[in-house]
Amino acid sequence: MLSFSKLFCFLSMFFVALTVAAPIDKLVAPICGVDGVSVRLPLSRFSNNDYKGRPWVAPPRGFYLQPWNMIYATHAANLALRNFQYDPSPVRADKPDGDINDMSSFQVPGSDQVFTSYGVDTRLNIHGDHLQYSGTGILKGAFSTYSLLAWGCDENNVPYYVNYATETELTKTPAGIDIMSIIDTGLDDKTFGRIQAELKNLGDPEITAMAANLTKTVQDGARRGLPRVTTCDAACKSNVNLKDIIGL
Ligand SMILES: *[C@@H]1O[C@H](CO)[C@@H](O)[C@H](O)[C@H]1NC(C)=O
Repeated sequence: MLSFSKLFCFLSMFFVALTVAAPIDKLVAPICGVDGVSVRLPLSRFSNNDYKGRPWVAPPRGFYLQPWNMIYATHAANLALRNFQYDPSPVRADKPDGDINDMSSFQVPGSDQVFTSYGVDTRLNIHGDHLQYSGTGILKGAFSTYSLLAWGCDENNVPYYVNYATETELTKTPAGIDIMSIIDTGLDDKTFGRIQAELKNLGDPEITAMAANLTKTVQDGARRGLPRVTTCDAACKSNVNLKDIIGL
């Protein structure tokens, strides 16, 4: 009986190993640096995750919900800002896979005032790598669809992600790509170079043009040591502090 139960135990472990082998393979820690770079086209235009046979591995649960700094951007509206930080968090603590507080904060040239911009992101798929942004307050009616085009860790093991956002009509913000890092000095040049080259390699004219436009944002350290903006009260959710900046 003992040996049978041992055999049974061994067999069932074997079957568990067999059945979970594929998903576990996909969940192994990403390869950091240039060799780990994997990019895709925005899901808003291509519903297929495996564009041209490129495998796409969704980020692990919680990857997106970290404190991020914008390191590269492609259009003037984002490049005009300083020390852009992004602090996404679950709207409901008991629903970590539900809606996301889209909490951005930044400075503008010549001032140390920290401006905030808030909206809610709804997940468009179970992986949370395709999101619909909706603004609140004076940004009510502002919509944009976000797709992660790449995520991983750079040569220094520092997490990054690459985001594509569709045009926001209300604020006249053009479509663009941003690259975010969890440190304000950003990702290393080798990893950035590979991401830029791979984006161009996708062969999509819009993405190629955006990749060519990727420009370093201003991260001058003026917010180092200050608390990050992670929560938003009613005044913050009104987005009124953006009135002069976006001309609404
Ligand atoms: C690239 O940047 C230029 C200058 O800001 C802008 O006019 C153009 O629309 C941008 N192209 C893309 C695809 O972002």
